[in-house]
Amino acid sequence: MDRRDRLIARARQGYRLAYGVEPTRFFAAPGRVNLIGEHVDYNDGYVLPCAIDRETIVALGPPAKDAAVPRFEAVALDMGDMASARDAFDLAGKIPPGENNWQNHVRGVVQAIGRYGHRVKPARIAIAGDVPIGAGLSSSAAFGVAVGLAISEYSGLGLAPEMLAKIAQIAENDFVGCACGIMDQMASAASVEGHALLLDCRTLQTLPIPIHPSLAVTVIDTGIRRSLTESAFNQRRAECEAAAQHFGLKALRDLDAGALAAAEGRLDPVLFRRARHVVGEMERVEPIATALATGDAATLAAVLHEAHVSLSEDFEVSLPAIDRLAALVREGLGEAGGVRLTGAGFGGCLVAVARRDARPAIDAAIARYNAAGSGLPASAETFKPISGAAPIGAS
Ligand code: GLA
Repeated sequence: MDRRDRLIARARQGYRLAYGVEPTRFFAAPGRVNLIGEHVDYNDGYVLPCAIDRETIVALGPPAKDAAVPRFEAVALDMGDMASARDAFDLAGKIPPGENNWQNHVRGVVQAIGRYGHRVKPARIAIAGDVPIGAGLSSSAAFGVAVGLAISEYSGLGLAPEMLAKIAQIAENDFVGCACGIMDQMASAASVEGHALLLDCRTLQTLPIPIHPSLAVTVIDTGIRRSLTESAFNQRRAECEAAAQHFGLKALRDLDAGALAAAEGRLDPVLFRRARHVVGEMERVEPIATALATGDAATLAAVLHEAHVSLSEDFEVSLPAIDRLAALVREGLGEAGGVRLTGAGFGGCLVAVARRDARPAIDAAIARYNAAGSGLPASAETFKPISGAAPIGAS
């Protein structure tokens, strides 16, 4: 049994235990790691994420035969004991918030689909996943997109990947309270196997970028679980919006380096640094995309380093321990590839894009970090770039 089969079996069993019958359909959506373009999506710029072989699986079936009103029922298998991990709500009228985050992801998705004028058919679902939670690998985007896809297919809506992504994002923005951008949901909904996804966050146009066979994407979990993410994230977003406003622009995507440089001293220094990160980060997307496709490890090393420094010093979303680990991995890799903080920051993961044969150098750097450190040890895993959300097929 491979990883996915085990997950499907878990979702099936959870469904059976919760509802006493077999599910009829299964759906999957992956987590993601972002290679470059960090904190750029909500500034309308370009990003380059890549789906990873860690997924949320949704098992689905029709509602209970005796249900008096149209209801939606859900059970989440990774969220505590069965009792606290169940939810049920009426589909008629406005859907109230649930008691916790995962319930709000489900309710938010149902509500967002309704907001687009679609009718959600009553159903029962069970959700199981193996995207690590709180590690910056977008477990919540995978969750939202998988639930959205399951509802869309079962209700006969056939929503396109961009629509599924928007729905999952609205659910997070409005129901969960995180002002996240669209990158994670698009990566989960629209990725192509073996490729990273170049995404224009303003138009939602995508271009799959092949990952050169000599390269591997390795995620280094710092072991530091993200904390304060939502408030700090929302604050960064507000700072970017304030900086764009200073220039009279819709978003920082429209700011050029010259205009930014000319504003130094006049723009609040914190806003200036935030904007400098975003403008610089956008310029790094194209060289990284090219290096990824051509296997140019030296460019990856140089540009990912710049990106890390910018996230740490200008955007201030790193932590001293993360900077130490990044420095050790960078030293170990030399020109064999690059490493930087990935995701929202304040903990979570580093991503290394490096020659496949350089994996021992990454492991050696992590061993040195762990030998010196306190707290949870860091660890690395090389992921396969898989394709975005899709039905698994009838059972
Ligand atoms: C989180 C958000 C994304 C994006 C990244 C930072 O993952 O959910 O929308 O803003 O942080 O690049």
